[in-house]
Amino acid sequence: MKKNILITGGAGFIGSHVVRLFINKYPEYQIFNLDKLTYAGNLENLSDIDKSENYTFVKGDITDGNFVFELFQKHNFHGVIHLAAESHVDRSISNPMEFIITNIVGTVNLLNACKTTWKENFEDKLFYHISTDEVYGSLGETGMFTEKTAYDPHSPYSASKAGSDHMVRAYHDTYGLPVVITNCSNNYGPNQFPEKLIPLFINNIKNKKPLPVYGQGVNVRDWLYVEDHAAAIDLVFHKGKTGETYNIGGNNEWKNIELIKKLCSIMDKKLGRNEGESAELITYVKDRAGHDLRYAIDSSKIKKELGWEPSLNFEQGLEKTVDWYLNNNQWLNNVVSGAYETYYKKQYGNS
Ligand code: NAD
Ligand code: DAU
Repeated sequence: MKKNILITGGAGFIGSHVVRLFINKYPEYQIFNLDKLTYAGNLENLSDIDKSENYTFVKGDITDGNFVFELFQKHNFHGVIHLAAESHVDRSISNPMEFIITNIVGTVNLLNACKTTWKENFEDKLFYHISTDEVYGSLGETGMFTEKTAYDPHSPYSASKAGSDHMVRAYHDTYGLPVVITNCSNNYGPNQFPEKLIPLFINNIKNKKPLPVYGQGVNVRDWLYVEDHAAAIDLVFHKGKTGETYNIGGNNEWKNIELIKKLCSIMDKKLGRNEGESAELITYVKDRAGHDLRYAIDSSKIKKELGWEPSLNFEQGLEKTVDWYLNNNQWLNNVVSGAYETYYKKQYGNS
């Protein structure tokens, strides 16, 4: 008998890489991908594996408690890897309620479904919650987030993720639900929706559009290639200790403006432009409200306890990412039409 595994948000950026990894690596699992297909969900992300025998797509909404419960009753999932979420900080600033409902209520619906269908027999079961380093707040010039850092979220997005993390831990402590949580730093790579810094800037450089740098561009993020995150998720799902939290990060801090200049230089080479041409598109715009200054993750626990290491350095990862977007024009053109144009105008004006 195959084990049924539920992955939520599998049509999104990180979720699609996790689904692909599990489909290819674990023929003994039947992978159910539950996704609402919001603006960020895209079945094209999975076109290479969607005919696989061990893959089932379910279109549905985690905020619909009855639907979630019936799905669990029908398929008796052994494990859940929960990635479905509203994930973009800027959108959370203009529409916080959607983040509360999807990220907190949606997560609690899944927890309730696990608790009820698994009843008191939690053996061999796992609810794995994918979270973010943003729950820890903002660092100054020094220091790193460890698993013991107190939560101090600042945006509606990070506050909603913090709320969902707390609910996951509450279900573990109160009902004994077997859970594990990981908090990861900024991911980049193929299939990321071009509202996030790297794909947005790749698309704008390609089209010679202004590059909207928030504030002075001095904010720092710790970047990790998405397939390295997916590999960490695989490891934690199979070897992580129930009730534990693991931080995941690239040990790869970049000031936004330095990263943007690097990206411009790579794109100049790839597009046959003169060195410095794309950097002329850099435009400083109004800062993001409540903009966290710096994130940096201490990943020593997952490295020491589970043996995880990122496989790519940033140069390699960024080149691979740029190549992917330049070679997948159709994917990019499909996602930047229609609703994206409306979003872009609202967020950045007519620039
Ligand atoms: P994404 O926005 O690309 O994808 C989210 C997916 O969830 C989409 O496919 C969307 O359709 C689906 N979804 C949204 N609401 C849903 C609902 N109500 N019911 C069912 N499906 C729904 O997000 P991502 O960047 O791939 O992030 C995935 C997860 O990883 C999120 O939980 C996010 O908080 C977390 N995370 C992201 C990063 C990052 O850098 N992107 C870093 C750390 C953690
Ligand atoms: O740290 C993990 C988080 O990383 C995830 O939990 C989130 O889901 C993910 O969206 C990401 O959040 P950030 O806010 O760090 O990512 P974003 O790509 O939106 O922005 C990265 C940095 O670039 C941030 O300092 C803001 C800045 N920025 C972003 C955009 C979109 C700009 O200067 N201009 C822009 O247009």
